[in-house]
Amino acid sequence: MCGIIGYIGHRDIVSVLLAGLKRMEYRGYDSSGLAVLGSDGIDLKKRIGKIADLEEDLNGQKIPGWLGIGHTRWATHGVPSTLNAHPHKTRSGELALIHNGIIENYTAIRDDLSRKGHHFTTETDTETLLHLIQDYYRGCTLEEAVREALKHVKGTYGIAVISRTEPDKIVVARQGSPIVLGIGENENFVASDMAAFIEYTKDVIYLNEGETAVIYKDHFEHKTLNNHKINRKPERINLSVEQIEKSGYPHFMLKEIFEQDHTVEDAIRGRLREDEGTARLYGLGKYKDALTDAKRVIIVACGTSYHAGLIGEYMLEEFGGIPVEVEYASEFRYRNPIIEPGTIVFAISQSGETADTLAAMREAKHKGAVCLAICNVVGSTIAREADAGLYLYAGPEIGVASTKAFTSQITVLALITLYIARRKKMSILDGQKWVKEMKSLQRKIQTILKSDGYIKKIAEFFKDRPNFLYLGRGYNYPVAMEGALKLKEISYIHAEGYPAAEMKHGPIALIDKDMPVVFIAIKDGTYDKIMSNIEEVRARNGRVIAIATQGDEEIKSKAESVIYVPEVAYPLMPILTVIPLQLLAYHIASFRGAHIDQPRNLAKSVTVE
Ligand code: G6P
Repeated sequence: MCGIIGYIGHRDIVSVLLAGLKRMEYRGYDSSGLAVLGSDGIDLKKRIGKIADLEEDLNGQKIPGWLGIGHTRWATHGVPSTLNAHPHKTRSGELALIHNGIIENYTAIRDDLSRKGHHFTTETDTETLLHLIQDYYRGCTLEEAVREALKHVKGTYGIAVISRTEPDKIVVARQGSPIVLGIGENENFVASDMAAFIEYTKDVIYLNEGETAVIYKDHFEHKTLNNHKINRKPERINLSVEQIEKSGYPHFMLKEIFEQDHTVEDAIRGRLREDEGTARLYGLGKYKDALTDAKRVIIVACGTSYHAGLIGEYMLEEFGGIPVEVEYASEFRYRNPIIEPGTIVFAISQSGETADTLAAMREAKHKGAVCLAICNVVGSTIAREADAGLYLYAGPEIGVASTKAFTSQITVLALITLYIARRKKMSILDGQKWVKEMKSLQRKIQTILKSDGYIKKIAEFFKDRPNFLYLGRGYNYPVAMEGALKLKEISYIHAEGYPAAEMKHGPIALIDKDMPVVFIAIKDGTYDKIMSNIEEVRARNGRVIAIATQGDEEIKSKAESVIYVPEVAYPLMPILTVIPLQLLAYHIASFRGAHIDQPRNLAKSVTVE
């Protein structure tokens, strides 16, 4: 994980770096630091804690200089500490380096360099890379030294290196961790995420795997690691500063929950054909037929995206008539999966950078599958490496706990399902109904968001419970898992999501008067069964919170608290039922004073295995 930024230009270096790091704090936030190159050499400031702590240390201090690099860390090798924080600087003060990724063979390199007299002071793999570059930095340019050093490195990296003896440049390289260049006028930027510099320039170049760049104030050179020139033109990015600000909300997570009426609509926009009762999926390009004719679909994803994939499985099998498997990307990539001709693999990832999902997709591609991406971040690695794909267009998701990406992922999966179903057995009338239902989502989400005050009250009542159980059936079973995940992630309360009927095979033993059980008990084909499960919990004095269909009076007598959601076609119901669960988790975490946007130990974009 980790976020890196570099800047060369006329602005106050510290301000540019700090602002950029704050935008990337979602990538890691256990320590941070920056290095500024000026006439006195490389000045280093770093510390354990959040960017705000580093900012406090600096206390408005200007560090004179013309270029700088900054880093926000999510520890992999070496505990979070000021010493282990990046940038790392050579003892002589000549070089400084920031790194996102993992150098897997660092122990071997370190042993070798130690024998040559190098002295290491931190526990990080990054310091090894710095020494390796230093070792090669004799009688050659910094760029050459970096290139040579990287030939000996196994693992992943997005790096930026500066040198006191070549004070006009920042050298960057990418393998496995994202790097994007921001091209300005008489100033240039580099970062893990373009959000870091979006107020200064919208012209960007994404580095591909195995590429490097040397950034100067007024130009840049873009090459492969083998020193071949690349002439890729900058792309103009459509992202505004407002999209990445909190806009008056106390947390990004709450803002993102409240954005869902629009983000779901944005995922649908331009993709529905009312007259034909189908979806139009330009992003899938020439693979649309392959998808319709697919013999099997495999969905690979992690975390919340995996839960969206499970809902996709239900839809694609029921309406698309295609056998579907959903796999944790981390498991798929290492278990030699069988990929037969006619297999389509969907990689679902909000960030488009999750290391396991990317590796799973590459493995599937290697085995001959057509790989389609469902990503939010435009230009992300998964989006670019997939054969084709569909974007969510949900705008930047900054809260570490994913919310709006989840509802948009289900929305996109519903569009794909509709498309396939219509090309197979679904009638035009049924297709038109599906379209109508999808169009009604925005209004229905707005209705749910009005229950926020009531959900807050429920949260206050249950906030001190140490355990929660979430139960659902069918399409709402993955929603139960997602509700439990949200609560765990941000409130640190132990929570489990289970298929409601499976409760009898274990979790029922946990139920007593102190156990809140959240049921997703909407009026679909599973309603009667789930009512029986509610009775089973009540018989053991469990405390029932129900997410129910608007107008269901019966459930009031069975549940202690009922949160209503409007009715919609049942495959789309998860888009609605998850929202009260997101709000419940948010308010419980807020009452407990948790760090909602930056929960302990988590990171938004998991670019390590
Ligand atoms: C991390 C995030 C989760 C996210 C998961 C998958 O664990 O904290 O919120 O669901 O990664 O991320 P992706 O970007 O691939 O959807």
